Amino acid sequence: MKICRSIIDWRAIRGGFAGETLGLVPTMGALHAGHLSLVGRSRQQNAATVVSIFVNPTQFDESADLDRYPKQVELDLIQLQDVGVDVVFLPAFEEMYPDGYRCRVSESDLSLRFCGVQRPGHFDGVLTVVLKLLNIVRPTRAYFGEKDFQQLSLVRRMAQAFFLEVDIVACATVREPDGLAMSSRNQNLDVAQRGLAPSLYQALRECRDAGAAKRRLQKLGFAVDYVEDFEGRRLAAVRLGGTRLIDNVVIDESTS
Ligand code: PAJ
Repeated sequence: MKICRSIIDWRAIRGGFAGETLGLVPTMGALHAGHLSLVGRSRQQNAATVVSIFVNPTQFDESADLDRYPKQVELDLIQLQDVGVDVVFLPAFEEMYPDGYRCRVSESDLSLRFCGVQRPGHFDGVLTVVLKLLNIVRPTRAYFGEKDFQQLSLVRRMAQAFFLEVDIVACATVREPDGLAMSSRNQNLDVAQRGLAPSLYQALRECRDAGAAKRRLQKLGFAVDYVEDFEGRRLAAVRLGGTRLIDNVVIDESTS
């Protein structure tokens, strides 16, 4: 497995993959089985797989959230080596933002709804870094999790709007045995919060509509940012103490 920290080095490596299919899995590290499922999918579909690890500051609307985002690069590299990744791209901030974020992607509709309401600028930061990664890596396919459904929709829309020659591949949400969607942020939950957290998925699946799910979650002690239906999914964001959790389910399944 090659580890590459600069764009110049990456371009030299990219030359070696000319004419082959290449999969990109963009991540912010603190890897778990959810991330690794994207890697597995990429390895099935492409001759080579690149994973990027970059904790992207421009998508954190609160600096405290950025500070406490888990960082464990050594452990991440061991996991990626184990699953047979070809290259890990680990750029520094200056490498990704030589302009200091003066140029950015600005989306003016979906990015302002749902998670965008409580997190101003978040999705512009996400879209900007994803566009940069796609332009640097030039993959055949790029892999995104359905767990972050709004992010996935926005990336798809950006790829269409800018005529990007990449297939955006959606991957199913990987869950803990009790149903909690895997997330790097789950590490920040205390024991009581961790016990309550799977009720988010349960409420989304079992309640007959978004309003009922919201009421059930509030009664259980979650601070509910939103529960809303969008593109055939029921999306939710809640907070337990300082930790924000998001999840979504297919609506037909939840109501049948
Ligand atoms: P991160 O939270 O590290 O997630 C990287 C990718 O893994 C995303 O596409 C996310 O949807 C997917 N993922 C996370 N948890 C998952 C789970 N339980 N099941 C399936 N997929 C899961 O999302 C980001 O990073 C960033 O916003 C990024 C796209 C890298 C841009 O900075």
